[in-house]
This record gives sequence, structure tokens and C-alpha cells, in this order.
Amino acid sequence: MPKLPKLPTPPLPPQFKSPPPRPGDEAAGSGPLQQAAEAGISVVDWVDERMSLSGAGRWMLFRKVPKGTNWAYTLGSATMFAFLSQAVTGVFLAMYYRPDPAGGAYESIRYVTNEVFLGQFVRGMHKWGSTVMVVLVFLHMGRTFFYGAYKYPRELNWVIGVVLLILTMLMSFTGYLLPFDQRAYWATIVGVNINGTGPLLGPYLSDFLRAGPEFGATTLSRFYAIHMLLVPGAIAAMIGAHLYLVAKLGTTAPPWQKAEKNPELRKAEL
Ligand code: HEM
Repeated sequence: MPKLPKLPTPPLPPQFKSPPPRPGDEAAGSGPLQQAAEAGISVVDWVDERMSLSGAGRWMLFRKVPKGTNWAYTLGSATMFAFLSQAVTGVFLAMYYRPDPAGGAYESIRYVTNEVFLGQFVRGMHKWGSTVMVVLVFLHMGRTFFYGAYKYPRELNWVIGVVLLILTMLMSFTGYLLPFDQRAYWATIVGVNINGTGPLLGPYLSDFLRAGPEFGATTLSRFYAIHMLLVPGAIAAMIGAHLYLVAKLGTTAPPWQKAEKNPELRKAEL
């Protein structure tokens, strides 16, 4: 197995290095903006002196990308943005939502939609955002598949991606029940029954999702806990591992990109 070359941490780009002030310049640069910037820099420096995280930040952010990188490479970051938007809008919805199957859940959603300031907008963002995230995750998966980015040494990142895909589907499935209207109720019964037909683990899985043999009062709170705590936490952790591997291994060049000739070989040809 060929050993991967160890790439050095890229140097700090020159625009981030401020030149030392010239003698006599101090007065010109002492406005409130300059002072606010200095204060911000001092805080960051204070934290960095104790945690030494700036090297890690530079390692993560200032990376070389292959020639031919195009818009399709932004689909992963777009998926991550959709996830973050879901997390933020979800927090606001959770401030009003009650996972009470005896009418409370339905009523709390009605209240958010009709009474709360910007409630319909935030709920709409969360509802349509979920569809956007599913579409983006599939497009990103298609990009990595068609560019051959699943091959050595990125197989583990593909596997982590598959886990992220399953978790994204689980978010959609558990979120669908929460409005607790007729459509949510019956669609989830169908979904849980489909899970139950799976070999070996199927019946256990549907028992776990229902929180018992019957679709009952505890099912809604179980779906809510899975939807707002378990799966988002797992997705955040998996995205961390996914991005660590992207930064460590670099991204794949497009398959049509020809490798540049080694200058030594070119010299030998002449
Ligand atoms: C929540 C879901 C996901 C997020 C937030 C995410 C995020 C990212 C980001 C930001 C990158 C950097 C390069 C790029 O954007 O193309 C990336 C790369 C990659 N992702 Fe994902 N991803 C997700 C799901 C998936 C899925 C479902 C798969 C495949 C099953 C996958 C496989 C990969 C692979 C193989 C790479 C390396 C690409 C390369 O080297 O060119 N990811 N991902």
C-alpha cells in the first residue's frame, strides 16, 4: 500500500499579517474601529496562548485544492449549511412545541403557525429546509460517486457519509410525526410497519420506535427525543469526523483532470 505524503501546514497568508506601525503612525490608527479590532485581536491572542488552536484552525481552513475544482464541490458545505439552518430554526420551534398526543402537539403547532410572531416563517423554513437538506445530501453523494471520491484513501469518508445519509433520513422520518395531524399519524404507522418487515432486527426496531407493542402516548415523545437530541447530536459528531478526513486527505481532482508531468521526467524527455 503506498504511503501518503505528509503535507506541511500552510503558512499564514500575507493579508492576515499586519505590518508593524511606522514611527509617528500610532495617532492615525487609534480610532474607535482600530481600538475595537485591537481588543478583538487581544482576546483571540489570549485564548490562543492558552489553547494553541490557531495552528489547527489554519490546518483546517487554508488548504490546497486540486486544479479543476468547481461548483459541484460546494454541495457538501451547502448540505452542512442546510443542517445548521435546521438546527437554528428547530431551537425556536422547540420553544413552543409540546409533545403531547392528547391534542397539545397539534395545538402548539397551530399556535406557532397562526399566532407567534414570524412563527409561520420559521416553521416554513424548517419544513422546506428539511427537503432542501435531503436533496443536497443526494446531490453531494452523486458528486463524490461520479468523481470517484469514494476510492482509496477516502473509503472511510464514504462510509461516514452513508451513516450521515441514514441519519438524515431518520431526521425526516421522526420529524414527520411531530405536527400530529391525520397525515403525520397514519404515515408514521405505515413507516413503522414497513420497518417491522425487515429481517431479524425489523420487529425490534418497530417496537423501539413505537415505544411498545402499540402506537401510543409514549411514541410521540420518543420520536421527539430522537428528532431533537439523539440524531442531531450524532449528525454533528459525524460531520466533525467527515470534515477532519476532508482536511486530512484533501479533495479529489475531477476525473477528467490530467496529472501534471513531473518536471524531472520532462527534463529527461528533452
Ligand atoms: C449531512 C450530510 C453531509 C455533509 C454535511 C457533508 C459534508 C461534506 C463536505 C463539506 C465535504 C468537502 C468537499 C465537498 O463539499 O464536496 C465532503 C466531502 C465528502 N463527502 Fe460528504 N457530507 C455529507 C454526506 C455525505 C454522503 C451521504 C456521502 C456518501 C455516501 C459523502 C461522501 C463524501 C466523500 C467521499 C467526500 C470526499 C470528497 C472528495 O475527496 O472529493 N458525504 N462532505
